[in-house]
Amino acid sequence: MKGTIIFLLLAQVSWAGPFQQRGLFEFLLDDEASGISPEEQFPILTDEVQPMGPVCPFRCQCHLRVVQCSDLGLDKVPKDLPPDTTLLDLQNNKIAKINDGDFKNLKNLHTLILVNNKINTITPGAFTPLVKLERLYLSKNLLKELPSKMPKTLQELRVHENEITKVMKSVFNGLNQMIVIELGTNPLKSSGIENGAFQGMKKLSYLRIADTNITTIPRDLPPSLTELHLDGNKITRVDAASLKGLNNLAKLGLGFNSISAVENGSLANTPHLRELHLNNNKLIKVPGGLAEHKYIQVVYLHNNNISAVGSNDFCPPGYNTKKASYSGVSLFSNPVQYWEIQPSTFRCVYVRSAIQLGNFK
Ligand SMILES: *[C@@H]1O[C@H](CO)[C@@H](O)[C@H](O)[C@H]1NC(C)=O
Ligand SMILES: *[C@@H]1O[C@H](CO)[C@@H](O)[C@H](O)[C@H]1NC(C)=O
Ligand SMILES: *[C@@H]1O[C@H](CO)[C@@H](O)[C@H](O)[C@H]1NC(C)=O
Repeated sequence: MKGTIIFLLLAQVSWAGPFQQRGLFEFLLDDEASGISPEEQFPILTDEVQPMGPVCPFRCQCHLRVVQCSDLGLDKVPKDLPPDTTLLDLQNNKIAKINDGDFKNLKNLHTLILVNNKINTITPGAFTPLVKLERLYLSKNLLKELPSKMPKTLQELRVHENEITKVMKSVFNGLNQMIVIELGTNPLKSSGIENGAFQGMKKLSYLRIADTNITTIPRDLPPSLTELHLDGNKITRVDAASLKGLNNLAKLGLGFNSISAVENGSLANTPHLRELHLNNNKLIKVPGGLAEHKYIQVVYLHNNNISAVGSNDFCPPGYNTKKASYSGVSLFSNPVQYWEIQPSTFRCVYVRSAIQLGNFK
Protein backbone atom coordinates (compact mmCIF):
# COMPACT_ATOMS: atom_id res chain seq x y z
CA MET A 1 0.00 0.00 0.00
CA LYS A 2 2.67 2.48 0.96
CA GLY A 3 4.68 1.45 -2.04
CA THR A 4 1.64 2.19 -4.16
CA ILE A 5 1.27 5.66 -2.73
CA ILE A 6 4.88 6.51 -3.48
CA PHE A 7 4.62 5.03 -6.90
CA LEU A 8 1.50 7.06 -7.69
CA LEU A 9 3.14 10.16 -6.37
CA LEU A 10 6.18 9.70 -8.54
CA ALA A 11 4.08 8.74 -11.52
CA GLN A 12 2.07 11.90 -11.08
CA VAL A 13 5.22 13.92 -11.11
CA SER A 14 6.09 12.66 -14.54
CA TRP A 15 2.64 13.42 -15.94
CA ALA A 16 2.44 16.81 -14.42
CA GLY A 17 5.65 18.17 -15.80
CA PRO A 18 8.03 17.76 -18.67
CA PHE A 19 10.53 16.77 -16.06
CA GLN A 20 11.74 13.25 -16.78
CA GLN A 21 11.18 11.08 -13.78
CA ARG A 22 13.21 7.92 -13.81
CA GLY A 23 11.48 4.68 -12.98
CA LEU A 24 11.12 4.04 -9.28
CA PHE A 25 13.44 1.09 -9.24
CA GLU A 26 16.10 2.72 -11.33
CA PHE A 27 15.86 5.64 -8.98
CA LEU A 28 16.18 3.51 -5.88
CA LEU A 29 18.83 1.18 -7.16
CA ASP A 30 21.04 3.55 -9.05
CA ASP A 31 24.02 3.90 -6.77
CA GLU A 32 26.14 5.85 -9.17
CA ALA A 33 23.50 8.51 -9.56
CA SER A 34 23.21 8.86 -5.82
CA GLY A 35 26.94 9.36 -5.63
CA ILE A 36 27.52 6.64 -3.07
CA SER A 37 30.85 4.95 -3.40
CA PRO A 38 31.28 1.26 -2.51
CA GLU A 39 33.22 2.33 0.59
CA GLU A 40 30.16 4.14 1.85
CA GLN A 41 27.98 1.12 1.20
CA PHE A 42 30.26 -1.18 3.16
CA PRO A 43 31.83 1.20 5.61
CA ILE A 44 34.93 0.28 7.49
CA LEU A 45 34.00 0.50 11.14
CA THR A 46 35.64 3.44 12.84
CA ASP A 47 34.75 5.48 15.86
CA GLU A 48 32.35 7.45 13.72
CA VAL A 49 30.45 4.46 12.41
CA GLN A 50 29.31 2.56 15.42
CA PRO A 51 28.13 -1.01 14.99
CA MET A 52 25.08 0.17 16.94
CA GLY A 53 24.56 3.22 14.68
CA PRO A 54 21.14 4.32 13.46
CA VAL A 55 18.78 1.52 12.59
CA CYS A 56 15.37 1.82 11.03
CA PRO A 57 13.20 4.07 13.24
CA PHE A 58 10.56 2.24 15.23
CA ARG A 59 7.51 1.33 13.08
CA CYS A 60 9.04 2.76 9.89
CA GLN A 61 10.10 0.49 7.08
CA CYS A 62 13.54 0.77 5.57
CA HIS A 63 14.51 -0.87 2.34
CA LEU A 64 17.07 0.03 -0.31
CA ARG A 65 17.76 3.42 1.34
CA VAL A 66 14.08 4.30 1.26
CA VAL A 67 12.65 5.11 4.65
CA GLN A 68 8.87 4.86 4.84
CA CYS A 69 7.24 6.43 7.88
CA SER A 70 3.86 7.41 6.44
CA ASP A 71 0.48 7.00 8.18
CA LEU A 72 1.94 6.48 11.63
CA GLY A 73 0.39 9.38 13.52
CA LEU A 74 3.87 10.84 14.12
CA ASP A 75 3.98 14.31 15.65
CA LYS A 76 7.66 14.84 14.94
CA VAL A 77 10.37 13.68 12.59
CA PRO A 78 11.82 10.40 13.93
CA LYS A 79 15.30 10.59 15.44
CA ASP A 80 18.35 8.74 14.13
CA LEU A 81 17.33 8.32 10.54
CA PRO A 82 19.83 6.15 8.62
CA PRO A 83 22.37 8.56 7.08
CA ASP A 84 22.37 6.77 3.71
CA THR A 85 18.63 7.45 3.20
CA THR A 86 17.83 8.72 -0.30
CA LEU A 87 14.04 8.94 0.02
CA LEU A 88 12.21 9.79 3.21
CA ASP A 89 8.45 9.47 3.24
CA LEU A 90 6.67 11.13 6.17
CA GLN A 91 3.32 11.81 4.53
CA ASN A 92 -0.02 11.50 6.34
CA ASN A 93 1.26 12.19 9.83
CA LYS A 94 0.64 14.97 12.36
CA ILE A 95 3.96 16.76 12.29
CA ALA A 96 3.50 20.46 13.08
CA LYS A 97 7.07 21.74 13.20
CA ILE A 98 10.25 20.96 11.31
CA ASN A 99 13.32 21.87 13.37
CA ASP A 100 16.98 22.47 12.71
CA GLY A 101 18.63 19.10 13.19
CA ASP A 102 15.62 16.99 12.18
CA PHE A 103 17.40 16.00 8.99
CA LYS A 104 21.00 16.17 10.19
CA ASN A 105 23.33 13.66 8.49
CA LEU A 106 20.93 13.07 5.58
CA LYS A 107 23.46 14.25 3.06
CA ASN A 108 22.33 11.71 0.44
CA LEU A 109 18.64 12.50 0.59
CA HIS A 110 17.14 13.14 -2.86
CA THR A 111 13.44 13.18 -2.03
CA LEU A 112 11.61 14.41 1.07
CA ILE A 113 7.87 13.78 1.27
CA LEU A 114 6.03 15.74 3.97
CA VAL A 115 2.62 15.89 2.29
CA ASN A 116 -0.50 15.99 4.46
CA ASN A 117 0.84 16.86 7.88
CA LYS A 118 0.14 19.90 10.06
CA ILE A 119 3.35 21.76 9.37
CA ASN A 120 3.11 25.45 10.19
CA THR A 121 6.76 26.16 11.01
CA ILE A 122 10.03 25.21 9.38
CA THR A 123 13.04 26.65 11.18
CA PRO A 124 15.52 28.39 8.84
CA GLY A 125 18.30 25.81 9.14
CA ALA A 126 16.11 22.72 8.87
CA PHE A 127 17.01 21.90 5.26
CA THR A 128 20.65 22.99 5.42
CA PRO A 129 22.08 19.44 5.83
CA LEU A 130 20.23 18.24 2.71
CA VAL A 131 22.99 19.03 0.23
CA LYS A 132 21.61 16.70 -2.45
CA LEU A 133 17.89 17.29 -2.09
CA GLU A 134 16.12 17.39 -5.47
CA ARG A 135 12.46 16.94 -4.61
CA LEU A 136 10.60 18.57 -1.75
CA TYR A 137 6.89 17.81 -1.35
CA LEU A 138 5.11 19.99 1.22
CA SER A 139 1.56 20.01 -0.11
CA LYS A 140 -1.43 19.84 2.28
CA ASN A 141 0.10 21.53 5.28
CA LEU A 142 -0.47 24.79 7.15
CA LEU A 143 2.51 26.81 5.94
CA LYS A 144 1.97 30.57 5.84
CA GLU A 145 5.14 31.20 3.89
CA LEU A 146 7.57 29.27 1.74
CA PRO A 147 10.60 27.86 3.57
CA SER A 148 13.67 30.06 3.46
CA LYS A 149 17.06 28.52 2.65
CA MET A 150 15.91 25.66 0.50
CA PRO A 151 18.79 23.53 -0.84
CA LYS A 152 20.38 24.88 -4.05
CA THR A 153 20.14 21.42 -5.59
CA LEU A 154 16.33 21.49 -5.52
CA GLN A 155 14.64 20.63 -8.84
CA GLU A 156 11.06 20.23 -7.81
CA LEU A 157 8.99 21.99 -5.15
CA ARG A 158 5.35 21.19 -4.45
CA VAL A 159 3.53 23.35 -1.91
CA HIS A 160 -0.06 22.89 -3.03
CA GLU A 161 -2.87 23.53 -0.49
CA ASN A 162 -1.17 25.50 2.23
CA GLU A 163 -1.92 28.96 3.67
CA ILE A 164 0.66 30.97 1.79
CA THR A 165 -0.36 34.57 1.11
CA LYS A 166 2.75 35.88 -0.62
CA VAL A 167 5.77 34.67 -2.57
CA MET A 168 8.92 36.72 -2.17
CA LYS A 169 11.73 36.76 -4.69
CA SER A 170 14.29 36.07 -1.96
CA VAL A 171 13.07 32.52 -1.25
CA PHE A 172 14.09 31.41 -4.74
CA ASN A 173 17.47 33.12 -4.69
CA GLY A 174 20.13 30.81 -6.07
CA LEU A 175 17.74 27.91 -6.76
CA ASN A 176 19.10 27.58 -10.28
CA GLN A 177 18.33 23.88 -10.73
CA MET A 178 14.60 24.25 -10.26
CA ILE A 179 12.45 22.61 -12.96
CA VAL A 180 8.97 22.20 -11.44
CA ILE A 181 7.11 24.49 -9.03
CA GLU A 182 3.56 23.86 -7.83
CA LEU A 183 1.96 26.56 -5.65
CA GLY A 184 -1.76 26.01 -6.33
CA THR A 185 -4.63 26.38 -3.87
CA ASN A 186 -3.02 28.88 -1.55
CA PRO A 187 -4.67 32.13 -0.40
CA LEU A 188 -2.18 34.22 -2.39
CA LYS A 189 -3.26 37.83 -2.31
CA SER A 190 -4.05 39.81 -5.48
CA SER A 191 -0.46 40.94 -5.93
CA GLY A 192 0.98 38.26 -3.67
CA ILE A 193 3.78 37.34 -6.04
CA GLU A 194 6.71 39.71 -5.98
CA ASN A 195 7.78 40.92 -9.42
CA GLY A 196 10.56 38.76 -10.80
CA ALA A 197 10.07 36.07 -8.14
CA PHE A 198 10.81 33.31 -10.66
CA GLN A 199 13.19 35.27 -12.85
CA GLY A 200 16.51 33.70 -11.97
CA MET A 201 15.48 30.09 -12.44
CA LYS A 202 16.95 29.39 -15.85
CA LYS A 203 15.73 25.78 -16.00
CA LEU A 204 12.22 26.31 -14.72
CA SER A 205 9.93 24.48 -17.09
CA TYR A 206 6.66 23.92 -15.24
CA LEU A 207 4.91 26.51 -13.07
CA ARG A 208 1.45 26.05 -11.62
CA ILE A 209 -0.29 28.69 -9.52
CA ALA A 210 -3.95 27.73 -9.84
CA ASP A 211 -6.88 28.49 -7.52
CA THR A 212 -5.47 31.50 -5.68
CA ASN A 213 -6.48 35.16 -5.56
CA ILE A 214 -3.80 36.61 -7.84
CA THR A 215 -5.17 39.21 -10.25
CA THR A 216 -2.30 39.44 -12.75
CA ILE A 217 0.04 37.09 -14.57
CA PRO A 218 3.34 37.07 -12.60
CA ARG A 219 5.96 39.32 -14.23
CA ASP A 220 9.42 38.42 -15.56
CA LEU A 221 8.85 34.71 -15.97
CA PRO A 222 11.89 32.75 -17.16
CA PRO A 223 12.08 31.96 -20.92
CA SER A 224 12.63 28.28 -20.14
CA LEU A 225 8.96 27.80 -19.18
CA THR A 226 7.10 25.22 -21.26
CA GLU A 227 3.93 25.07 -19.14
CA LEU A 228 2.25 27.85 -17.21
CA HIS A 229 -0.96 26.95 -15.38
CA LEU A 230 -2.82 29.89 -13.88
CA ASP A 231 -6.38 28.59 -13.96
CA GLY A 232 -8.92 29.48 -11.29
CA ASN A 233 -7.47 32.83 -10.26
CA LYS A 234 -8.82 36.38 -10.43
CA ILE A 235 -6.82 37.53 -13.44
CA THR A 236 -8.69 40.26 -15.35
CA ARG A 237 -6.61 40.68 -18.51
CA VAL A 238 -3.70 39.21 -20.43
CA ASP A 239 -0.96 41.77 -21.04
CA ALA A 240 1.39 41.03 -23.89
CA ALA A 241 4.30 42.23 -21.73
CA SER A 242 3.76 39.54 -19.11
CA LEU A 243 4.34 36.87 -21.77
CA LYS A 244 7.32 38.56 -23.36
CA GLY A 245 10.19 36.23 -24.19
CA LEU A 246 8.32 33.02 -23.40
CA ASN A 247 9.68 31.37 -26.53
CA ASN A 248 9.35 27.84 -25.19
CA LEU A 249 5.87 28.08 -23.78
CA ALA A 250 3.69 25.26 -25.14
CA LYS A 251 0.77 25.24 -22.70
CA LEU A 252 -0.92 28.25 -21.15
CA GLY A 253 -3.82 27.66 -18.77
CA LEU A 254 -5.94 30.70 -17.93
CA GLY A 255 -9.38 29.14 -17.61
CA PHE A 256 -11.77 30.16 -14.81
CA ASN A 257 -10.47 33.69 -14.36
CA SER A 258 -12.17 37.05 -15.04
CA ILE A 259 -10.30 37.89 -18.22
CA SER A 260 -12.13 40.35 -20.43
CA ALA A 261 -9.29 41.17 -22.84
CA VAL A 262 -6.22 39.55 -24.35
CA GLU A 263 -3.88 42.28 -25.48
CA ASN A 264 -2.73 42.17 -29.10
CA GLY A 265 0.76 40.74 -29.28
CA SER A 266 0.23 38.21 -26.50
CA LEU A 267 0.26 35.30 -28.92
CA ALA A 268 3.17 36.74 -30.88
CA ASN A 269 5.15 36.68 -27.63
CA THR A 270 4.52 32.94 -27.28
CA PRO A 271 5.43 31.67 -30.77
CA HIS A 272 5.53 27.99 -29.82
CA LEU A 273 2.25 27.86 -27.95
CA ARG A 274 0.22 24.74 -28.69
CA GLU A 275 -2.54 24.90 -26.08
CA LEU A 276 -4.41 27.94 -24.84
CA HIS A 277 -7.15 27.57 -22.25
CA LEU A 278 -9.29 30.68 -21.86
CA ASN A 279 -12.60 29.00 -21.11
CA ASN A 280 -14.84 30.39 -18.34
CA ASN A 281 -13.76 34.00 -18.57
CA LYS A 282 -15.37 37.26 -19.71
CA LEU A 283 -13.93 37.57 -23.20
CA ILE A 284 -16.06 39.47 -25.66
CA LYS A 285 -14.02 38.49 -28.71
CA VAL A 286 -11.64 35.83 -29.98
CA PRO A 287 -8.04 36.74 -28.99
CA GLY A 288 -6.06 38.39 -31.81
CA GLY A 289 -3.17 36.65 -33.51
CA LEU A 290 -4.52 33.10 -33.77
CA ALA A 291 -4.70 33.23 -37.56
CA GLU A 292 -1.00 34.09 -37.86
CA HIS A 293 0.12 31.67 -35.18
CA LYS A 294 2.17 28.73 -36.44
CA TYR A 295 1.73 26.01 -33.84
CA ILE A 296 -1.51 26.57 -31.98
CA GLN A 297 -3.61 23.39 -31.80
CA VAL A 298 -6.02 23.73 -28.91
CA VAL A 299 -7.98 26.90 -28.09
CA TYR A 300 -10.66 26.69 -25.41
CA LEU A 301 -13.00 29.67 -25.48
CA HIS A 302 -16.21 28.13 -24.16
CA ASN A 303 -18.17 29.86 -21.41
CA ASN A 304 -17.24 33.41 -22.33
CA ASN A 305 -19.19 36.43 -23.55
CA ILE A 306 -18.18 36.30 -27.20
CA SER A 307 -21.03 37.67 -29.29
CA ALA A 308 -19.41 37.64 -32.75
CA VAL A 309 -16.74 35.57 -34.50
CA GLY A 310 -14.99 37.10 -37.51
CA SER A 311 -14.13 35.01 -40.55
CA ASN A 312 -10.40 35.76 -40.11
CA ASP A 313 -10.27 35.10 -36.36
CA PHE A 314 -8.82 31.60 -36.67
CA CYS A 315 -7.43 31.18 -40.19
CA PRO A 316 -5.22 33.36 -42.39
CA PRO A 317 -7.04 35.22 -45.17
CA GLY A 318 -7.61 33.34 -48.43
CA TYR A 319 -8.03 29.69 -49.20
CA ASN A 320 -4.58 28.81 -50.46
CA THR A 321 -2.99 28.98 -47.07
CA LYS A 322 -1.22 26.16 -45.36
CA LYS A 323 -3.64 24.13 -43.24
CA ALA A 324 -3.41 24.81 -39.56
CA SER A 325 -3.10 22.01 -37.11
CA TYR A 326 -6.08 22.82 -34.89
CA SER A 327 -7.14 19.74 -32.98
CA GLY A 328 -9.56 21.34 -30.51
CA VAL A 329 -11.41 24.65 -30.63
CA SER A 330 -14.37 25.23 -28.33
CA LEU A 331 -16.80 28.12 -28.59
CA PHE A 332 -19.95 26.75 -26.98
CA SER A 333 -21.72 28.63 -24.20
CA ASN A 334 -21.10 32.03 -25.74
CA PRO A 335 -23.77 34.50 -26.86
CA VAL A 336 -22.77 33.98 -30.51
CA GLN A 337 -25.12 31.57 -32.29
CA TYR A 338 -23.28 28.93 -34.21
CA TRP A 339 -25.37 29.51 -37.33
CA GLU A 340 -24.14 33.11 -37.37
CA ILE A 341 -20.55 31.98 -37.80
CA GLN A 342 -19.46 31.95 -41.45
CA PRO A 343 -18.58 28.40 -42.53
CA SER A 344 -15.39 29.80 -44.08
CA THR A 345 -14.17 30.80 -40.58
CA PHE A 346 -12.67 27.35 -40.17
CA ARG A 347 -11.43 26.95 -43.74
CA CYS A 348 -7.93 26.07 -42.56
CA VAL A 349 -9.06 23.26 -40.27
CA TYR A 350 -8.78 19.73 -41.60
CA VAL A 351 -10.69 17.90 -38.94
CA ARG A 352 -14.21 19.26 -38.53
CA SER A 353 -14.74 17.37 -35.30
CA ALA A 354 -12.01 19.54 -33.80
CA ILE A 355 -14.48 22.44 -33.62
CA GLN A 356 -17.12 22.55 -30.90
CA LEU A 357 -19.65 25.28 -31.49
CA GLY A 358 -23.06 24.19 -30.25
CA ASN A 359 -24.51 25.06 -26.90
CA PHE A 360 -24.61 21.67 -25.27
CA LYS A 361 -26.85 22.31 -22.35
C1 LIG B 1 -9.85 35.13 -2.02
O1 LIG B 1 -10.28 36.29 -1.34
C2 LIG B 1 -11.57 36.20 -0.77
C3 LIG B 1 -11.91 37.52 -0.13
O2 LIG B 1 -11.44 38.58 -0.88
C4 LIG B 1 -11.62 35.09 0.23
O3 LIG B 1 -12.92 34.94 0.74
C5 LIG B 1 -11.20 33.80 -0.42
O4 LIG B 1 -11.14 32.78 0.52
C6 LIG B 1 -9.85 33.96 -1.09
N1 LIG B 1 -9.56 32.75 -1.84
C7 LIG B 1 -8.39 32.18 -1.79
C8 LIG B 1 -8.19 30.94 -2.58
O5 LIG B 1 -7.50 32.66 -1.14
C1 LIG C 1 -5.57 44.24 -32.55
O1 LIG C 1 -5.29 43.67 -33.80
C2 LIG C 1 -6.44 43.68 -34.66
C3 LIG C 1 -6.06 42.99 -35.94
O2 LIG C 1 -4.89 42.27 -35.84
C4 LIG C 1 -6.88 45.10 -34.93
O3 LIG C 1 -8.02 45.09 -35.73
C5 LIG C 1 -7.18 45.77 -33.62
O4 LIG C 1 -7.48 47.13 -33.83
C6 LIG C 1 -6.00 45.68 -32.69
N1 LIG C 1 -6.40 46.21 -31.41
C7 LIG C 1 -5.61 47.02 -30.72
C8 LIG C 1 -6.16 47.49 -29.41
O5 LIG C 1 -4.52 47.38 -31.11
C1 LIG D 1 -21.30 40.65 -22.16
O1 LIG D 1 -20.89 41.63 -23.06
C2 LIG D 1 -21.82 42.69 -23.24
C3 LIG D 1 -21.25 43.62 -24.29
O2 LIG D 1 -20.97 42.91 -25.45
C4 LIG D 1 -22.06 43.40 -21.93
O3 LIG D 1 -23.02 44.42 -22.07
C5 LIG D 1 -22.50 42.41 -20.88
O4 LIG D 1 -22.59 43.04 -19.62
C6 LIG D 1 -21.54 41.25 -20.80
N1 LIG D 1 -22.07 40.24 -19.91
C7 LIG D 1 -21.34 39.72 -18.94
C8 LIG D 1 -22.03 38.65 -18.12
O5 LIG D 1 -20.21 40.06 -18.70
